[in-house]
Amino acid sequence: MAKTMADWRRMKENSEKIVVVTAYDAPTARILHESGVDILLVGDSLGNAVLGYDSTVPVTMAQMLHHSAAVRRGAPEAFIVSDMPFGSYQCGWREAIANAILLMKEGGCDAVKLEGGAEVAPLVERMVTAGVPVMGHIGLTPQTASLLGGYRVQGRDLPAAKKLLAGARALQDAGVFAIVLECLPKELAALLSAQVTAPTIGIGAGSGCDGQVLVCSDMFGLYEKFVPKFVKQYVKLAPMMREATRQYAEEVRTGRYPDDEHSFTATTDYQALLEGEN
Ligand code: KIV
Repeated sequence: MAKTMADWRRMKENSEKIVVVTAYDAPTARILHESGVDILLVGDSLGNAVLGYDSTVPVTMAQMLHHSAAVRRGAPEAFIVSDMPFGSYQCGWREAIANAILLMKEGGCDAVKLEGGAEVAPLVERMVTAGVPVMGHIGLTPQTASLLGGYRVQGRDLPAAKKLLAGARALQDAGVFAIVLECLPKELAALLSAQVTAPTIGIGAGSGCDGQVLVCSDMFGLYEKFVPKFVKQYVKLAPMMREATRQYAEEVRTGRYPDDEHSFTATTDYQALLEGEN
């Protein structure tokens, strides 16, 4: 049965793990939802996973709306969270709330996610007050990875860990319904998870989080450019797709495809078409 906002806290209290996977298109969304995934995340990882960018920074509101709506069409009953792309929430709370509402109305999502700790808590509070459910995201925040010195594990020393704890608490007080913890030592992620009542959703943050998220193209072995240490490929689709394409090309070139099984047969005598032509 599809889950709702009412389930996330209950699941944490009952130590039931929350399963989150990213989705960017309708058929994948349908498969993930039918397979029992609790939350579909239309991540701005869309930029790397689907659109061919090197980071999430170029992703626009128009692209997030386009892909969120596709995911909603593929999984009408799923709980869907859409990422607010870089630039859609940094220029003032009015614009941020307007963009979040657009993602809900036109993109069809149930909630939005944005990156940042204590510094975004006042914005999150305004958004939640306006009726927008918000998921937080701390640790490695890809939209500002260059400020963090690149894509690296966060919270390695005590001052950094202290900032993350303060961020998690500030987001919780601001009313987030869950917090993504990305690329943290597992011990720190477990400690943060125990310190907040909002469920934590880990990615590269060990098993002590209240749930896990993976990028679907990583999990399916479709994205080969870079495979982070925390990614487990449950299937390797890229080589399978290459092999299928090679077979198809070979069969087209040798005339083995399409065969009778994959062709339509006439029910009309087409010779009549040519009668009287010459
Ligand atoms: O954009 C994304 O897919 C994400 C997850 C990695 C948490 O933010």
